[in-house]
Amino acid sequence: MEKEKPIGVFDSGIGGLTVVKRLISSLPRESIVYFGDTARVPYGSKSNSTVIDYSVQNTNFLLSKNVKAIVVACNTASSIAIPSLKEKFDVPVIGVILPGADMAVNETKNGKIGVIGTRATISNQAYSKAINELDNKIKVYEKACPLFVPLAEEGWTHHKATYDIAEEYLKELRGKDIDTLVLGCTHYPILVDVIQDVIGKNVKLIDSGIATAEVVKNEINRIGFETNSAVPGNLDLYVSDIPTTFKQVAELFLGKKINEVVKVDIEELHKI
Ligand code: DGL
Repeated sequence: MEKEKPIGVFDSGIGGLTVVKRLISSLPRESIVYFGDTARVPYGSKSNSTVIDYSVQNTNFLLSKNVKAIVVACNTASSIAIPSLKEKFDVPVIGVILPGADMAVNETKNGKIGVIGTRATISNQAYSKAINELDNKIKVYEKACPLFVPLAEEGWTHHKATYDIAEEYLKELRGKDIDTLVLGCTHYPILVDVIQDVIGKNVKLIDSGIATAEVVKNEINRIGFETNSAVPGNLDLYVSDIPTTFKQVAELFLGKKINEVVKVDIEELHKI
């Protein structure tokens, strides 16, 4: 029965938990199976073909856990691998770029939007294309911030080094008069306080996880896949490596205790 299957979510690491948090708020009775590819993070500096290979492997793993839909909770993988995943797999595949772009377009008042993301997301112009397809008069200013990913994985949410690096990355966007800034990497909401302080209180930050959770909710309702369960869903966490900080940062971010994180050998599984 499709309805009672969990939703599968993957990211290169811990960042996709920012999307899981939003999914749990929007769809509390759905169970979620999460895979964080912590052994191969970051994806943002890898080639497109590697990101596609990894995304296919991650999806195969989640499908082996009997999921009813795949949420690509990674902007890098969403910007590169969605067409391949849609072509290869029968289940609904939902990425984070289009929901985030849509939310930013609805939010901006002055038509100037900043986007920060990994090198891959920015060089593929994933957001500027998606935003300008919705409204071609909007000016989009993009900036790659690759060091934010390891800072988030380390849990350095308010560290002085995080402030210094944010200053360096965001100074050019501060001169562009943007009123909206897309956090175009699912790791970045972990650093939201620093990013908001440095970019300024008047700039609205867009967390694409919020928009994505709404799209997932609408999609599973539309296709009649919503659970009938009356109790809160389970969250099963799998990773390809268990960094010492994973559990602590994940708990901090999800705001709840995690029972178990299971390590899987993603490349070995793929050979089978
Ligand atoms: N969290 C991911 C994203 O949204 C990937 C970060 C990375 O692995 O470089 O882009």
